[in-house]
Amino acid sequence: MTDDSGKAGHSLWGGRFSAKPADLMRRINASIDIDRRLAGEDLAGSRAHAAMLADTGVIGRGDEQAIQRGLTLIEAEMAAGTFPFREELEDIHMNVEARLTELIGPAAGRLHTARSRNDQVALDFRLWVREACDRSAAGLRDLQRALTKRAEETADALMPGFTHLQPAQPVTFGHHLMAYVEMFGRDAGRFEDARARMNECPLGAAALAGTSFPIDRQATARALGFDRPTANSLDSVSSRDFALEALSAAAICATHLSRLAEEIVIWMTPGFGFITLSDAFTTGSSIMPQKRNPDAAELIRAKVGRILGSLVNLTVVMKGLPLAYGKDMQEDKPPTFEAFDALELSLAAMTGMINDLTPNRAAMAAAAGAGFSTATDLADWLVRRLGLPFREAHHVTGRAVARAETLGVDLADLPLADLQALEPRVSADVYEVLTPAASVASRTSHGGTAPVQVRAQITRWKEILA
Ligand code: ARG
Repeated sequence: MTDDSGKAGHSLWGGRFSAKPADLMRRINASIDIDRRLAGEDLAGSRAHAAMLADTGVIGRGDEQAIQRGLTLIEAEMAAGTFPFREELEDIHMNVEARLTELIGPAAGRLHTARSRNDQVALDFRLWVREACDRSAAGLRDLQRALTKRAEETADALMPGFTHLQPAQPVTFGHHLMAYVEMFGRDAGRFEDARARMNECPLGAAALAGTSFPIDRQATARALGFDRPTANSLDSVSSRDFALEALSAAAICATHLSRLAEEIVIWMTPGFGFITLSDAFTTGSSIMPQKRNPDAAELIRAKVGRILGSLVNLTVVMKGLPLAYGKDMQEDKPPTFEAFDALELSLAAMTGMINDLTPNRAAMAAAAGAGFSTATDLADWLVRRLGLPFREAHHVTGRAVARAETLGVDLADLPLADLQALEPRVSADVYEVLTPAASVASRTSHGGTAPVQVRAQITRWKEILA
């Protein structure tokens, strides 16, 4: 669409131009390969805009009907894969408008009344990001449901709890999984919050200053599912913080996913052997026949690079941009699309792995008692039963651990005489607190690892997620 209709430069904006853009100009300017993903949003925006223009008498009803009919044909072409995308038409907005002109003739020229590509792209992109937030929150809820279900099966399955990745205190596998349910719950909340804040419609801001036509911005906002129109036309076309906020939520979520992914990798390694993943979520090696690798977990662990990178990418694009629209902002879409593609795939794959994994209760329980993990229970017993100050109890227990280490036994197997050599008042019932099961069962404080508390967390989340 170049030299036709006497508009030498461009059929849609070429009026004041007498020569075509250079090939390189066209190549750097075109965004259609990227923003064709906004086709659905662009058509929805155009439908709402055209209806409003007719309702307010800005265009005739007959023209509006022709426009709606043309948009329906375009929708069908898009669905059938026959829509003729053309690079020389730059972007999705001009591709749609040019095609509309071919399909319905001059009435198409009335659609862009009281509208600019600046508010058009701000709308399309906002609609896309809003959907992406909804999909991410839904993916997170699915993941939370999967984790809660597995936690319910393992609310009393002993495992070592770590700090510094050193054995710390016994916990349960269900408790550990529910920790991620909390994190993913906040992640979903961040997407929901971002959605609520971005849910204002920029359509009608036109190029930057608003329009002299008597448009009804409330009507288009309503038609497109927004709470209200944006309040300042300059802000409407200049701002992408809705995308930055969504990407921030995505980056935090990807960070959480990477932590769970890393734990799956650790739990899978034979040195731990806490879980098994089936053939469905592992891969083999082309040279080492014995291998079973947790590739999906490793890839999820890595995707945070892409997703956080996208946040940094768009932040740098937006930094220092004067108001209002600048073509820099065309670079908003690639990182955003890339980040959400990666996030949605990661969420789905993580949910798949959580459903797939088999916890190895025996291996976890055996490890739960290793590393003198009930030492705190001994110290607490000395405080509770003998009235020792905690610092002194800590010291006595440290010496008991050293003695057990010398004898090569666990705390639970340290002879009473050895304990009494350190603190004469220790009685035999101390052994009741020295097993991992007793340790876990005793931690009944709100949010603690006692199975009764873990089940309370599960009950609460099952209601929220129902
Ligand atoms: N393709 C452009 C983008 O993605 C659409 C807006 C262009 N506006 C303009 N005045 N050139 O940002």
